[in-house]
Amino acid sequence: MRYILSPTFGKFTILISCLFLNFIPTTAQEKISLDEDWKFHFGHAANPEKDFDYSKTALLHKSNVFATTIVNPKFVDTAWTKVNVPHDWVVELPFVKSEQVEMDSHGYKPVGGAYPETSIGWYRKHFTVDKAKSNKRFEIQFDGIYRNAEIWLNGFYVGTNFSGYVGNSYDVSNYIHFEGDNVLVVRVDATQYEGWFYEGAGIYRHVWLNITDKIFIPQDGVFVHSEIKGKNAIVTIETTVQNNHLKTTGGLVYAYITDRNGKVLAKTAEQKITLGTYKDITVKQKINLNNVRLWSLEDPYLYKVISVVQSNNQIAHQTKTRFGIKTVKFDAKEGFFLNGNPLKIQGTNNHQDHAGIGSALPDYMQYYRIKLLKEMGSNAYRTSHNAPTPELLEACDSLGMLVVDEQRLLNSSPEYIDQFKRLLKRDRNHPSVFLWSIGNEEQNIQGNDYGKKIAQTLLAIQEDLDPTRTSTYAADMANDFKGVNEVIPIRGFNYREYAVADYHRDHPNQPLLGTEMGSTVTTRGIYEKDEIRAYVPDQDITHPWWASKAETWWKLAAENKYWLGGFVWTGFDYRGEPTPYKWPNISSHFGILDVCGFPKNIYYYYQSWWSTKDVLHISPHWNWPEKVGKPIDVWVNSNADDVELFLNGKSLGKKTMPRNSHLEWQVTYEPGTLEAVGYKKGKKITTKVETTGNAYAVVLSPDKTILTADGKDATVFNISITDEKGREVPYADNMVKFYISGDAKIIGVGNGDPSSHEPDKCREGAWQRSAFNGKCQVIIQAGKTVGTVKFEAKSNGLQAASATLNIVKS
Ligand code: GAL
Repeated sequence: MRYILSPTFGKFTILISCLFLNFIPTTAQEKISLDEDWKFHFGHAANPEKDFDYSKTALLHKSNVFATTIVNPKFVDTAWTKVNVPHDWVVELPFVKSEQVEMDSHGYKPVGGAYPETSIGWYRKHFTVDKAKSNKRFEIQFDGIYRNAEIWLNGFYVGTNFSGYVGNSYDVSNYIHFEGDNVLVVRVDATQYEGWFYEGAGIYRHVWLNITDKIFIPQDGVFVHSEIKGKNAIVTIETTVQNNHLKTTGGLVYAYITDRNGKVLAKTAEQKITLGTYKDITVKQKINLNNVRLWSLEDPYLYKVISVVQSNNQIAHQTKTRFGIKTVKFDAKEGFFLNGNPLKIQGTNNHQDHAGIGSALPDYMQYYRIKLLKEMGSNAYRTSHNAPTPELLEACDSLGMLVVDEQRLLNSSPEYIDQFKRLLKRDRNHPSVFLWSIGNEEQNIQGNDYGKKIAQTLLAIQEDLDPTRTSTYAADMANDFKGVNEVIPIRGFNYREYAVADYHRDHPNQPLLGTEMGSTVTTRGIYEKDEIRAYVPDQDITHPWWASKAETWWKLAAENKYWLGGFVWTGFDYRGEPTPYKWPNISSHFGILDVCGFPKNIYYYYQSWWSTKDVLHISPHWNWPEKVGKPIDVWVNSNADDVELFLNGKSLGKKTMPRNSHLEWQVTYEPGTLEAVGYKKGKKITTKVETTGNAYAVVLSPDKTILTADGKDATVFNISITDEKGREVPYADNMVKFYISGDAKIIGVGNGDPSSHEPDKCREGAWQRSAFNGKCQVIIQAGKTVGTVKFEAKSNGLQAASATLNIVKS
């Protein structure tokens, strides 16, 4: 018996083959990463010569472009810049002060129609395919390109993906070369924006080459859903199979469920199929699963479905789908229930960029960010306002975070219906997704019949492709019913928390969710408004006119059962939308955490009331040499019952902590130690802030130091400037330089300063970043060599720090 093992299934294939298939061999199927070794060059949106003659050459006259054009394989790109994807070219551009429309909202980066020289990107990728595979089917999968990407393979036009967010796959079987190079060419046109926030540009998500038999399960061709019956579940597996053989082909379709370790638990019946050429069929099969382990926030248990198509006594194609079993209920009076248990939605909205790397995140960063939100006690994430990267959902599935998955536009044109369908089919197996969102703040249509009709169309499509879930829409409307709200199953409120009670009174049967709430603007570590540097105090004080403070909305949501809960605008700061100031402010201040993920004080407010941890936090810091003898407003965030504050050992009084609120003391400043003692159900908890000495050392806090040698794994190093006693110096702004030796590289640096114009990338050969209020951050990506890597951080006059990374076999 001969086995050809698929790299994606490896040993597991043998196991299931042995158990159920009487040694039926698998044919090779592969999912090959095409992330590495791309060539990149800017084109030009207004000058054809600088755009490789794009608009001066007939690229669409003939099916294959033979002339020596940029899309032809023979075109010479050796002088182009070598890049790996995910790649975001915008993060590398300088900040530009400009009054151009949308410049501020996109973070003052020169991209968009007004910057033709930095808004078109050309990518070329060479790869080879073994002749032995010439009877296979080939598909190129792009997980996301920002945006309007035209794609050619070997001179053949393959497709255009208009969306900057939802990816697409293209069958290229007839164009693959088996002798010599294949050349994939992508022209990315970022002259239009899709949003009003930093979006980046380029091939900023993964690219894959999928090789399968010609009878196969298409991309997103498996839909798994379940119905719970007592302790058991009936799992329905819908498998689409397509035949691209040039003759009618027969086969068998079946599926297995395994536990998370790959142990086979149950198998469907085998269903015979016969498919004409270029025909497809969807086979629906059911499996009873006993004693199911539910997917929950505390125990995000994932089963796997292995879907198999067998033809000619061989496994032609098999796919793996992770899924979870859970129930959700939205009740207009009682709120939200997960697996029958009441759960208040404690959510955050987020865009997809991070410090240092823009929108091109290594997968690890998705896990890092979700972990930070979970530590705060957040249980839900809204992908405002677009299809997320698939790995974000994988992180939410694995770590236990609910997701509202959002369509970019409330639009029922064929283009946007297609985008919505792709989103639904791509994401409907993720247990983390508990609700779809069909759009956000469409002021011109949400309150009229256009909005209502478009919503009805999108809702019908959602119901058809995913009858197991329902949808919301993020409306910036008060107690208004006409339009989208008439038909939307879950009414979403963007701000206007004051109108929720009236709306509930008037529409008592429609569940209510705060889709955007709060929105206090804060700058980490800043305690006075600063209009020059464009900073706002790091307390729950300042918010734009349309929004509210954290305490205003959360009290309402926490204390009224009929609120399902809500999503804070936002979890993390993001580039663009500087508010309330513009230049020099280049990123938003809305985050509970800054762009690096460093908590601001409001983090401890949410953590107090959202998590089960003991929280006790004092702000501000205690370094105010210019304020000796003057009053300082001290805030204490805690979930203790009572808190007593002490300055240099002297009690400043004990106060009862109001629920869903915070405590304040006015303290006459003297240097020393400000200590809080909290009493929580008889237990004593303490914390303190101390007047520190001057900056003395650079201190590293890596998230992890063991990385996989796959060229993709990454880690975050958070850096503090401390005094001699190891206490972070709250205003330290020292410049820190970074050095790395071994097979790993720094891919970005940041510090959370919303007005910093320092480069996020290496300029003039130096990786460096100044600290902002005591902290900065470095993101490091592993190479492919097993071994150790030395990382050093140095700052003039300070004690340097170093760490060793172990890069281990994957
Ligand atoms: C909302 C909008 C968000 C963001 C926010 C800023 O109206 O939906 O995308 O712009 O305002 O406050």
